[in-house]
Amino acid sequence: MPGRRSFRLNYRIIKMRYDILTIFPEFFESQFSFGILKKAQDRGLISINTHDIREYSGDKHRTVDDTPYGGGGGMLMKVDTIGSAIEGVREESKKSIVVLTTPDGENFSDKTARELVDFDQIILICGRYEGVDERVRDIYVDKEISLGDYVLSGGENAASVIVESVSRFIPGVLGNEQSPEKDSFKQNLLEYPQYTRPEEFKGKSVPDVLLSGNHAEIEKWRKKESIKKTYIRRPDLLDKAILNKDEIEEIKKLKEESPPTFNAYIALIHYPVYNNRFKIINTAFTNLDVHDIARSATTYGVNKFYLVQPNLEQQKLVNRVLEHWLQGEGSSFNESRSEALNIVELKDTLDDVILEIEKKEGEKPQTIVTDARPTDNMIGFAELRELIFKEPTRPYLILFGTGWGLAREIMDQADYTLKPVSGYTNYNHLSVRSAAAVILDRLLSCKI
Ligand SMILES: C[S@@+](CC[C@H](N)C(=O)[O-])C[C@H]1O[C@@H](n2cnc3c(N)ncnc32)[C@H](O)[C@@H]1O
Repeated sequence: MPGRRSFRLNYRIIKMRYDILTIFPEFFESQFSFGILKKAQDRGLISINTHDIREYSGDKHRTVDDTPYGGGGGMLMKVDTIGSAIEGVREESKKSIVVLTTPDGENFSDKTARELVDFDQIILICGRYEGVDERVRDIYVDKEISLGDYVLSGGENAASVIVESVSRFIPGVLGNEQSPEKDSFKQNLLEYPQYTRPEEFKGKSVPDVLLSGNHAEIEKWRKKESIKKTYIRRPDLLDKAILNKDEIEEIKKLKEESPPTFNAYIALIHYPVYNNRFKIINTAFTNLDVHDIARSATTYGVNKFYLVQPNLEQQKLVNRVLEHWLQGEGSSFNESRSEALNIVELKDTLDDVILEIEKKEGEKPQTIVTDARPTDNMIGFAELRELIFKEPTRPYLILFGTGWGLAREIMDQADYTLKPVSGYTNYNHLSVRSAAAVILDRLLSCKI
């Protein structure tokens, strides 16, 4: 229905009907009785109706729950009662959607709120006890929404959050029609800093540009600050943000001004590793691996890339290659290659690597081993990434094996064993340089 929701045409004909199904209707008594939502109801832009699910139970005890088949603790809300409530409130003439509040639903976001504005009636089911009979979802529910990864005792808070955030997108509700478009999350950016009087407070002044009256400059400043705040606080959002070339340049500058907040080293181990019969061997230096891993490591801000190679003949070979790229003809032929290989350092043993890092950093590095084979007690990528970024000065050393993987003695001494890299197939034969690139990306990448 084009134009139907246009504020300019006539916002009084735009109306959203919320029907909240709950066993505690009193929860909502004060929730919607003030501020913007009260005004929106008074002006006929939205109507919020709460319904006691017990009214639909059809038995004199007003039962809404029962014990789960198969046993286990707690009670479940019954499908027949919730079904009657939904059928009782659904208005056939309206474009309606049935939403179940549940911790295993999709995480509620600005995007979901915008999608829900497209409906005329939102029926919200507030669960209680251990939740609802699965058939409620199968038969009636169109969308399952969670407030976040935690468990509440009931869905009433979630319903209230949904009503409030969806209503903000209904034209006319905020008074100033433009406001929701400038809020955080629009375009996947956080909102820029805002100021009001006084111009100066405890030595902190309002930025000059905001007092300049130059609207083009103000807009430019706001976009820049918005990008900066998102880069620092929510880099994950930048992945989805639509930015132009100038704005991407802005992020490049930010990267230079705020370098990585982690302290990572890597090592490629040539001894001790396994061969295909699980005997301990010393593998040969592979030029391609060293070039590619050095390039990945430099891209992702790794401090140093150690090659652990005790064999003297192999060491000579490594030194000849490094010399070519760092001092010889290669250094002027390809400067970026030289820059990457500059972080490579040869060591006889892993202990030497750990000792050198400890001397430089004043503490032993936390060691992380990587392997294609699963073992017990492995750490996931997201959790390890959080740890690495949470402790910006703490050194972490990620170990990559050559041959058929790192020897048991190294695996057993590590602080963390990282889960294997895997796709949606069971093919599990990445080269070490590919695995290193994927692992560095998952642990250290900037999402832009
Ligand atoms: C105690 S919870 C049920 C938890 C359920 N047994 C589980 O483990 O997923 C009871 C009700 O609270 C609501 N609820 C709890 N946590 C929620 C969350 N994070 N987001 C939305 N609703 C939630 C849901 O309506 C749910 O049915």
